[in-house]
Parts: sequence; structure tokens; C-alpha cells
Amino acid sequence: MSKNKTLSDAKSAKNDEFYTQYADIQKEVNAYLDYNPDTFRGKTVLLPCDDPEWSKFTRFFAENFERLGLKKLISTSYAAASKKFKTPYQPSLFESESPQFDAAKTEVRGKIFVLDHDTNANGHIDLDDLEWKYLEGDGDFRSEEVCKLRDEADVIVTNPPFSLFREFLAWILATKNAKGAKQFLILGNKNAVSYTEVFPLIKDNMMWSGVTEWAGGMWFETMDSTDVDKVVDGKNMKNVASVWFTNLEHGRRHRPLELMTMADNIKYSRHKDIRGKGYFTFENYPAIEVPFTDAIPSDYDGIMAVPRSFLDKYCPEQFEIVGIAEGESGKELGLKPVPKELKKLNRSLRDGQLYYMKDGYPEKPFARILIRARRVK
Ligand SMILES: C[S@@+](CC[C@H](N)C(=O)[O-])C[C@H]1O[C@@H](n2cnc3c(N)ncnc32)[C@H](O)[C@@H]1O
Repeated sequence: MSKNKTLSDAKSAKNDEFYTQYADIQKEVNAYLDYNPDTFRGKTVLLPCDDPEWSKFTRFFAENFERLGLKKLISTSYAAASKKFKTPYQPSLFESESPQFDAAKTEVRGKIFVLDHDTNANGHIDLDDLEWKYLEGDGDFRSEEVCKLRDEADVIVTNPPFSLFREFLAWILATKNAKGAKQFLILGNKNAVSYTEVFPLIKDNMMWSGVTEWAGGMWFETMDSTDVDKVVDGKNMKNVASVWFTNLEHGRRHRPLELMTMADNIKYSRHKDIRGKGYFTFENYPAIEVPFTDAIPSDYDGIMAVPRSFLDKYCPEQFEIVGIAEGESGKELGLKPVPKELKKLNRSLRDGQLYYMKDGYPEKPFARILIRARRVK
């Protein structure tokens, strides 16, 4: 194996072991309930790729089973022996003290936790009513037994392994229920928006940003003690550029951005690149460069290239997404090739990239989404 491959495998193994905080799940899920209290009512929710004994996903959904009006909650965990990032294994007290504990299975089998009735007859369905057993296999989301659980579920919620994000999304979308695509609420890296498997879904409004704003990234508990950003209550925490992706409706995405006209931006913008200057037009694509989402001119009818973080503020009634000018998906734009003499001036400029001329020098913007205003006819 090449040294590079070994390094990137080690990195993705670590990236797969980030654990979501209870407050982050609570804040996100509560926003869907504010919009529609029946978002989860009567539904079967599956939490795959979890660690049910201490996952905050399982805890949150079990504790809120009645408030959400769930029909059934299922969560599955991945066997410790199958994880790429190894930490010393020790079954939890919860497991080792359970009557169904099995020393031969504990490390190599996944587990399934199910909650659908009041097992202790105390009048409530909650965390204490969760029932568990070992799965037949290791809990891989691609296994036949977990695929069956996916088929049974109405909503799939999790923070999937980062290294398998594309495969995980395809796995969710591979089955439909009576009402169409399965509903989902999952975490993924911001960069995922430019994947060929992801961008078309965003463009066609089949998936969008969740409620939590993108700025500042998110904090996760990490298992890798050699790569820690801060320690909180004895827990190693890492900041990651993760965002929620979903096809569940929420109110924030229907709130239009408040914007100024082009003339007002040029007069009053808080950005010195715009104030008194205006907007560049690309040489190889009929669009203007808008380097900040809050500098989008409200009265411009043509195509505008905006930062990727625009998707955090995207209101489909206000704008349509025309394309993307970065990553794998960007190749489809069919941009005119960059003349040789300009490539000599800016050696980082490649064919297939947007560029504009500034003081005789070809500049390329960072990742850009192409949008156009929707006008009420
Ligand atoms: C990013 S962590 C998130 C865990 C948990 N959902 C949370 O947020 O607290 C992803 C989890 O998926 C597990 N995993 C990795 N590959 C998997 C696979 N093929 N099938 C199921 N789970 C997998 C990892 O071991 C890890 O526990």
C-alpha cells in the first residue's frame, strides 16, 4: 500500500469516529417540530451507524418518544472489531450486566435497540423501555439485516461515517415509501455539496441544509486523543465543518434573504471589495461574481456566482440554483478553456474554472454556486 493511501485511510478512520452532542441534536430536531409538531408523528425512526449505549441520538429520540409521537424507534450500532479506528475494547456495564450478554459476540456483533411499547408498565414509553439484542452481523449499514430496517423506516437520522457519506446517502435514497423518497436528517461535511452524487439533489430541491447555521462548524466528541481542539468536562472535542442535510421541511429555508439593490450595494456595502467598485463579470461564463452572500444584488436578473455558504441561506422561493462551478459537479458547466497566456499569468488557473480579469490579471474565485432570482410574473 502506498504511503499516501495509508495516511488517507488513517485520516478517514479517525473522521468516522466523531460523536454528536445532545444539545446539537435537540436544537436541530426541535426546529422541525416548531415548524410542524407532527413531523415525526406515527413514524418509524431508524438511527443507523450509532452507538446506542451512549449515542446522544438514541437518548434524545428515546427520551422524546411520546412528545414526537413516534410509532417505533430503532437504532443499530457497529461492532467495535469492525471499526477502522481502534481503541481498547471494554463492554459497558449496561451490556455486561444484561442477561443477554455474550462474551463471544460483544466485540464482533452490532446491536439493535428497539423502542415501541411500555415494557415496564409505568405508563410511559421512554429510555427505560429500550430493548436490545445482538445483530446477526457487525451492523454495517449495507448488510441485509440493516437494509431491511431501512426499508421499514419512515425517517433515517444519524451522523454517518464521513468516509462513506456518498454511499450512505445513496443507500437512503435506494428505497422509497408510499409517499416517495425516504425522509432523512443526517450530518455531512460542507464539502459534500459539490459531490456529483449530492449537488444534483440540492439543485433539484430534493435535499437542503438543515436548520443549524453553518458558520463556526460543529463540535463533536472525538476518540482520537492526539487530535483535539479543546477538552470539555474531561471529553476531547474537535471542531468539524459539518452541517445538517435533510429533506424534512423547516421554516428557516422559506425565509427570504433581505438584500440591497446593486446600486445600494455599490454605495453602502460593508464589504470594501464591493463598496465604490461593483461586481466583476466572468470572462468564460455569463455571470457576475458575488463574493459575499449578503452582497447579492436584489435587482439583478442574470446568473450570479455566490459562495457555497449561500446554501445555508437558500430560500427556493427567492432563488433558483442553476449550477455549481467547483469540484466534480462543476465540470458539467462546459466553461470555455482559459487562453495559454492567461494561464502563464496565473499558474493556479485551470481549464474548467471560472475567471474574471482584475487590473489585467486573471483571478479565480473560490468554490461558487450559480444562482438566479425568481421573479413573480
Ligand atoms: C461519525 S460517527 C457517529 C456516531 C453517532 N451516530 C453519533 O453521531 O454520535 C459514525 C459511526 O459509524 C460507524 N461506522 C463506520 N463504518 C460503518 C458502516 N459501514 N456501517 C455502520 N456503521 C459504520 C463508526 O464506527 C462510527 O461509530
